[in-house]
Amino acid sequence: MKDLKKDNNNIMLEITNLTKKYGQTIAVDNLTFTVFTGEIYGLLGPNGAGKSTTLKSILGLLELDSGKISVLGYNPISSPTQVKELIGYLPEESSLYESMTVKELLDFIISIRKLDPASTLQTLDRLLDVLNARKYYTSMIASLSKGNKRKIEIITALIHRPQLLILDEPLFGLDTRSAVILKEIFRLHIEQGGSILLSTHIMDLAQQLCTRIGIINNGTIIVEGTFEELQEKSNSTKSLEQLFLELTNQSEITSNIIQQLRDIPAIKAK
Ligand SMILES: Nc1ncnc2c1ncn2[C@@H]1O[C@H](COP(=O)(O)OP(=O)(O)OP(=O)(O)O)[C@@H](O)[C@H]1O
Ligand SMILES: [Mg+2]
Repeated sequence: MKDLKKDNNNIMLEITNLTKKYGQTIAVDNLTFTVFTGEIYGLLGPNGAGKSTTLKSILGLLELDSGKISVLGYNPISSPTQVKELIGYLPEESSLYESMTVKELLDFIISIRKLDPASTLQTLDRLLDVLNARKYYTSMIASLSKGNKRKIEIITALIHRPQLLILDEPLFGLDTRSAVILKEIFRLHIEQGGSILLSTHIMDLAQQLCTRIGIINNGTIIVEGTFEELQEKSNSTKSLEQLFLELTNQSEITSNIIQQLRDIPAIKAK
């Protein structure tokens, strides 16, 4: 993996002391991290750690309690249009209009984003083909299977060829062929000078793709670095899955639970 230039001229996304509460719940707690140009930064953390809240905040979708977010110098709250042009966002849950056809949805996105028709059509054509989604072009979104809906969401995130991709569990529901192709699309994206902020529970994916990993727990980054740096910090050559459990203090409880699994009454043989 090529060396990252980590200097101030190379910052794609900067999050500084971000705090977001929902009522009494502190979802994100004084969170600080940076994503540089040409990197795939993996934001990993247990359920409820604050990953999706962080990603939504970057899009300007939530009112922040405190802190600062900068996307290539733009603030998502005061410069929403610029930030939305710079970002391709794949939310964790489907955000598609079910009562439209795929074509109607994509035409709508092309029109609200005011995209150049000729180059966008070329992008769209290629994406429909590589993701094997052309056959659904005139189908109602409601009629698509879960994985095929995900493919359409991916196309909507990529269609304006943004520099920064913000992806919340991008492979969720995708078949193997599409997953392999999508990983290559991500690699090409950073080769072209883009960046990716990726949240996932699939440790193999993070280990394969991410140039750096930030582990978030209770709304705060508890450890950050390349996979090799995380191994050095733990003084081990363990897989990311094992390191993750150790670094989030879940190793012991996981082993204990595995020991107790046999307490669950056995299956009933007839
Ligand atoms: N709309 C909401 N209203 C109230 N609390 C919320 C809301 N969204 C998230 N939370 C709470 O904020 C915390 C962080 O949630 P978030 O969805 O960011 O976690 P996550 O790391 O994405 O988890 P997961 O891995 O399950 O997707 C959790 O305690 C969650 O219950
Ligand atoms: Mg989430």
